[in-house]
Amino acid sequence: MYMNLSRVRAGGQVTEATAVIVVEGLRKSIRNGARTVDILKGIDFEVPRGQFVAIMGSSGSGKSTLLGLLAGLDTPTAGEVRLNGTAISYLPEDKLAKVRGRTVGFVFQSYQLVPTLTALENVLLPYELNADGDVDAGLRRARELLTNVGLGDRMDHYPVQLSGGEQQRVALARAFILRPPIVLADEPTGNLDTVNGSHVLELLLNLNRSEGTTLVLVTHDPMLADYADRRIVLRDGLVISDELTPKKAEELVR
Ligand SMILES: Nc1ncnc2c1ncn2[C@@H]1O[C@H](COP(=O)(O)OP(=O)(O)O)[C@@H](O)[C@H]1O
Ligand SMILES: [Mg+2]
Repeated sequence: MYMNLSRVRAGGQVTEATAVIVVEGLRKSIRNGARTVDILKGIDFEVPRGQFVAIMGSSGSGKSTLLGLLAGLDTPTAGEVRLNGTAISYLPEDKLAKVRGRTVGFVFQSYQLVPTLTALENVLLPYELNADGDVDAGLRRARELLTNVGLGDRMDHYPVQLSGGEQQRVALARAFILRPPIVLADEPTGNLDTVNGSHVLELLLNLNRSEGTTLVLVTHDPMLADYADRRIVLRDGLVISDELTPKKAEELVR
């Protein structure tokens, strides 16, 4: 069936009620001495539940800044982010930490594991900080996730004893431990070679699918973005294109 992809509204039938992520008029400026640098200049989009969004754009276009704002790791200069209906951008840190812990799993390019904790302890950390309790259930979930990512026999290893790909697989398990509705990943394969990178990606997509998570992934690998449902491209702090991938558009038309 013929369709002009540029005219497909990339959010699909999103309403406030079904959007897991709502970004409205988001701006971020940073004062640098006497100058003000505008990093994000007004970003708007909504992400429906379960969608896999690839954020693309060249280095310096504002991708990491945007992801940090989505995660509530940073405060915007103007505009707002709502996660699951909760406006997070201006919450006091204690409230924000609670919402973030329950709502968002984050995967960084540089893994960000705690070096003094084992793989199992790293995965358990968000559980211990956020969950209300059942230690045994947390342990079972952590072991299951580590086994899922192929690290069943490495649970007691420290990060320094693991390869980059293995460390990132630990970070994946950690991102999913609390069953967050949203996972945000900033170039998660950026430090890995092609083989390890595609393995990590495959595991991330499998987890995403089996857990029904909404996934926002920053990448500048066009191959990787082909797996996404939707591509949002940034340039100089603005969205210059926001389209469903051809695969997803066909699904919706059918
Ligand atoms: N804390 C900061 N101070 C000054 N400039 C910053 C800061 N953080 C980011 N920038 C600038 O903002 C722009 C966007 O950065 P970033 O979001 O990291 O882009 P990307 O992830 O797309 O490479 C870059 O030009 C970067 O140098
Ligand atoms: Mg970046």
